[in-house]
Amino acid sequence: MKITVIGAGNVGATTALRIADQELANEIILLDILEGIPQGKGLDIWQSGPVQLYDTKVKGTNTYDDTVNSDIIIMTAGLARKPGMSRDDLRDANTEIVKDAISKAAPKSPNAILIVVSNPLDVMTYVALKVSKFPTNRVFGMAGILDTARYKMFISEALGISVRDIHGMVLGGHGDTMVPLPRFTSVGGIPLEHLMSKEQIDAIVKRTQNGGAEIVAYLKTGSAYYAPAAATVEMVAAIVKDRKRLLPVCAWLNGEYGYKDVYMGVPCILGKDGVEKVLEFPLNEEEKQLFATSVKHVQTEIAKVTGI
Ligand code: LAC
Repeated sequence: MKITVIGAGNVGATTALRIADQELANEIILLDILEGIPQGKGLDIWQSGPVQLYDTKVKGTNTYDDTVNSDIIIMTAGLARKPGMSRDDLRDANTEIVKDAISKAAPKSPNAILIVVSNPLDVMTYVALKVSKFPTNRVFGMAGILDTARYKMFISEALGISVRDIHGMVLGGHGDTMVPLPRFTSVGGIPLEHLMSKEQIDAIVKRTQNGGAEIVAYLKTGSAYYAPAAATVEMVAAIVKDRKRLLPVCAWLNGEYGYKDVYMGVPCILGKDGVEKVLEFPLNEEEKQLFATSVKHVQTEIAKVTGI
């Protein structure tokens, strides 16, 4: 298993570290345009191996030749938000970055699975699909696991119950229009609405939707990276171990939920072939409405992308 991580910033380096820590690959290539940064961080992560007891080799590089025949490529490069910015404000600059990286990486690893993490997530995943020309089951984005993780953490905090016992999913696009689903959230199998008031649930839904911006407001110079990296590596583990996990993934819709030709956060079966299935289940009128608003938003943003 050879995994390339494009972008040696906070998300990329933390992702590489977590992959190595779990020994999910024999070799990790950490690539960045900045000279020295991926080499230094790569060596540093590799040198944790004798202490953490992993044999994963980590090589930092500035050249795509080193990425040849990767099994998985994780796209993290791109500008991050500053306070007050929306993810969509990054669209044009990050389109260029994703276009450049994927046009160089994809031909060298024609059978790779591409996981996109760069923002605005749903739109950048579309750019990666168009540029790579890979089949849609092998191009998808990480967002739903992160949004769901925030949602579960807030519930866990409010109830004083372990995160292990909170189950649920956040669907939709990675932005203000994301769709948390309290109706399908349970705590040890008990529906959430039996344990929390509507007001409490609404407040958690709102905080989840604003979860990325909350962290940007604290950090000021960039966005979150520990939880985004953890979420990305959960997808990597599902693929590497062919776990058939049911996870919220930014996946290409081909009629599912009534939409086509758009990326959306939906429940997917994730295994060795990438998105092996988009799982459909009935939404009620209110949930359908929220989902439709999210689709519309992503479609509008995709329509603004030029030059791919
Ligand atoms: C977030 C950014 C990375 O949600 O999209 O933290």
